Amino acid sequence: MEMEPNGSNEPSEVGVRQRRTVYFVLIGLFLLQTGLTYTVSTEAPTPASELNASAQRGEALYRKFNCTACHQFYGLGGYMGPDLTNVTTVQGKGPEYARAFILHGSGRMPMLGASEEQADDLVAFLKAVAATGTYPIRNLDLTPWGTYQEMHGDAK
Ligand code: HEC
Repeated sequence: MEMEPNGSNEPSEVGVRQRRTVYFVLIGLFLLQTGLTYTVSTEAPTPASELNASAQRGEALYRKFNCTACHQFYGLGGYMGPDLTNVTTVQGKGPEYARAFILHGSGRMPMLGASEEQADDLVAFLKAVAATGTYPIRNLDLTPWGTYQEMHGDAK
């Protein structure tokens, strides 16, 4: 058994008090850490991607017209047409551009027979999708010391 500094096997009064202090400090820190874990920065940010009524109808239409047979979001979907994740925000494209494809098709995309209102709803849905993030993932240039040079540039 460990000898206490005072030579007896019983822990000294001072030793007990010191240990108790250490325990209380540790328990206090634990409670503080636990409290902070559950309270600080835990609120979910308001999603930029919440679907308004139009976008909700657009989502249903996206399924109805089976756009996903030919198009991807975040790289997932059919591969006949391009990824649509950011088609409404990417430079050189945009809501009007998307709307034109939806209404009229192109040489390669069939004209689906969507009405003007349906096209508006589909564009609202595509806008909501674009607000969820960027695809393809941005260029991340690694610095020699391992950090990212460019974290928040938008996809070109
Ligand atoms: C049969 C396959 C097919 C279906 C179904 C389809 N598309 Fe397409 N879509 C294409 C192809 C192929 C292109 C590329 C056309 C081109 O560049 O001429 C395209 C292009 C587009 C574009 C332009 C994308 C860009 O980045 O240039 C948009 C927007 C689009 N489609 C939206 C839709 C939506 C919304 C639906 C469902 C309502 C849909 N498409 C259904 C094949 C399809």
